[in-house]
Amino acid sequence: MAELIVALDVSDRHEAVEKVKAIGDSVGFYKIGLELFTAEGPDVVRAVKDLGKKIFLDLKFHDIPRTVERAVKSGASLGVDLMTIHSVGGSAMIRAAAEAARSFGPTGPKILAVTVLTSLDKCDLEDIGVLGRTPAEQVVAMARFATESGAHGLVCSPKEVGALSSQLPAGTLFVTPGVRPQGSAVGDQKRVSSPADAVRDGATHLVVGRPILAAPDPVAAARAILDEMGGAV
Ligand code: C5P
Repeated sequence: MAELIVALDVSDRHEAVEKVKAIGDSVGFYKIGLELFTAEGPDVVRAVKDLGKKIFLDLKFHDIPRTVERAVKSGASLGVDLMTIHSVGGSAMIRAAAEAARSFGPTGPKILAVTVLTSLDKCDLEDIGVLGRTPAEQVVAMARFATESGAHGLVCSPKEVGALSSQLPAGTLFVTPGVRPQGSAVGDQKRVSSPADAVRDGATHLVVGRPILAAPDPVAAARAILDEMGGAV
């Protein structure tokens, strides 16, 4: 059964804790990203964990292997469940992250690789030296590379998850933002899927922010998405 993760895209700890309390028991998993972590640091992770929630720490590490290994260990010590790295950091960096996470045993974090940022098009890829591949081809190549180097899973668009899940080993995690329930505002997302389609295509975790955080009734919004996810299986 796929899990729903709410993106806690707010800028301070007080607001984060209030949002998590308001959403209550219906959601058990929250994503803390660069904005909130840079403002509040590990204390916000502890505060959300103290409410009994799982944490996806989305800091997209990209550095030399030793630095990433130690950063993953710091995250694991905080008790986070998912962490992100950039697959372009190379095989040794991905392996270092994965081995650091696995050294914490079955409760250690799972490492998710970002393949190609969805903000990049073919011209952007050419600018950084990726020649002769479309973004879609580069996503598949980097997904294989990252999982062969030890990553537990991938962050990918819901439009990519079908192609990837059919090509990668069973057990690979597929975490998809860009999910919009029926009737919800798309905002700045360009290529969105419904929760049911994302689950049917193989997503194991759906990341949803504004459709829940900005809803007049966040609990009802979360429950409607969970119902849609449940209806897909
Ligand atoms: O509010 P919304 O549902 O669009 O939030 C989606 C979350 O997923 C945000 O935290 C956003 O930064 C993140 N994300 C994304 N697209 C990506 C990678 C991450 O929307 N390609």
